[in-house]
Amino acid sequence: MPNETLGFGLVGCGLISAFHGKAIQATPGAALIAASDPQQDRLDKFCAEYGCEAAPSFEAMLADERIDVINVLTPNAMHAQFAIPALEAGKHVVIEKPPDMTLEKVDAMIAARDAARRKVAISLQVRFRKPIQAMYQAIQDGRFGKLYYAGAHMKWFRDTSYYHMDDWRSKRDQGAGVTIQHAFHYIDLLHHLMGEAAAVEARMYNLAHPDVQLEDTLQAFIDFRSGAKGIVEASTALWPGTDIRIEVNGENGTAIMQGERMTTWKFREELPGDAEMTQIGDAAVKTAASGAADFAFTEHQYMIEDMCNAIRNDGEPWVTLEKARGSLEMALAMYRSADEGRTVELPL
Ligand SMILES: NC(=O)c1ccc[n+]([C@@H]2O[C@H](COP(=O)([O-])OP(=O)(O)OC[C@H]3O[C@@H](n4cnc5c(N)ncnc54)[C@H](O)[C@@H]3O)[C@@H](O)[C@H]2O)c1
Repeated sequence: MPNETLGFGLVGCGLISAFHGKAIQATPGAALIAASDPQQDRLDKFCAEYGCEAAPSFEAMLADERIDVINVLTPNAMHAQFAIPALEAGKHVVIEKPPDMTLEKVDAMIAARDAARRKVAISLQVRFRKPIQAMYQAIQDGRFGKLYYAGAHMKWFRDTSYYHMDDWRSKRDQGAGVTIQHAFHYIDLLHHLMGEAAAVEARMYNLAHPDVQLEDTLQAFIDFRSGAKGIVEASTALWPGTDIRIEVNGENGTAIMQGERMTTWKFREELPGDAEMTQIGDAAVKTAASGAADFAFTEHQYMIEDMCNAIRNDGEPWVTLEKARGSLEMALAMYRSADEGRTVELPL
């Protein structure tokens, strides 16, 4: 039985940890117990700011019975190595996106989760954004008719100092690069809304960061299994950075989200409430277009609340490892396509 108040322990006190700290503090029935990080200054600062204990090690958190859930907030290629032992120790796990860098590691986490009969949620928090929830529901309700086309357009800016903030941020095998690090959320949204991909074709460029051996720009075409087509354009080279745009087009409707807001919501068959849909979201809420920490923690809070509900009710979190696996497969196929200069079919 989990504790009545679910206790959380965080692994990694870097940039994203503040979002988890605030989200847990804001969630009724959740308590932040401890954190760990080999960088002592970061650990001390985090614990002072969020009023939790500095665990002597990750292993100490696994042995701590007050902790029900471990949040894995380490660099992208260092997720499974914490998630699997946490599951084996009987903890539930929240994992920051992407789930890890290979499908094999995701499959190992699925096996560990099933063996331990615990919950795993992936922090793809944009799936909780209200306009995305509305688009998803309208697709389920058949309002778009046949889906024809979807677009994810991310024209962001990060200057070179971003890539040098931490060692892993400029290393592709560690999970750096615009495709896996930034566009991943929006590749995931297309997967969420449009379903599985059958093939992708991608090109990658470095337009504005000559000091870094990475793609800062992605262009990708997607053939979905349904027959619908998709496009992803994503960059961290385009100063000053503008709001992301997600577009869904079907035979009977079009919806567009820009930043946090629904800007277009048009269906041939109108329903009461349609006119209010463009009031969803807030144009003033930032969505990381110009800075890595330039967004609100609200969606992380929805994700933590959803995880608490899944644990208490023995349900599934909204973003499971299986869902994130499909998005990872699309991103990995984009890298393969750009490297090999050809269309790549899925599953890989
Ligand atoms: N959901 C989002 O919108 C979002 C936004 C930013 C980052 N992220 C994700 O969060 C994760 C972390 O990103 P970040 O920007 O915070 O990176 P970061 O480099 O700022 O922080 C990572 C931290 O992990 C720590 N760490 C490394 N080894 C450790 C160990 N053995 N034990 C404990 N801690 C250890 C590092 O010392 C560092 O402080 C990444 O997977 C990233 O993709 C998600």
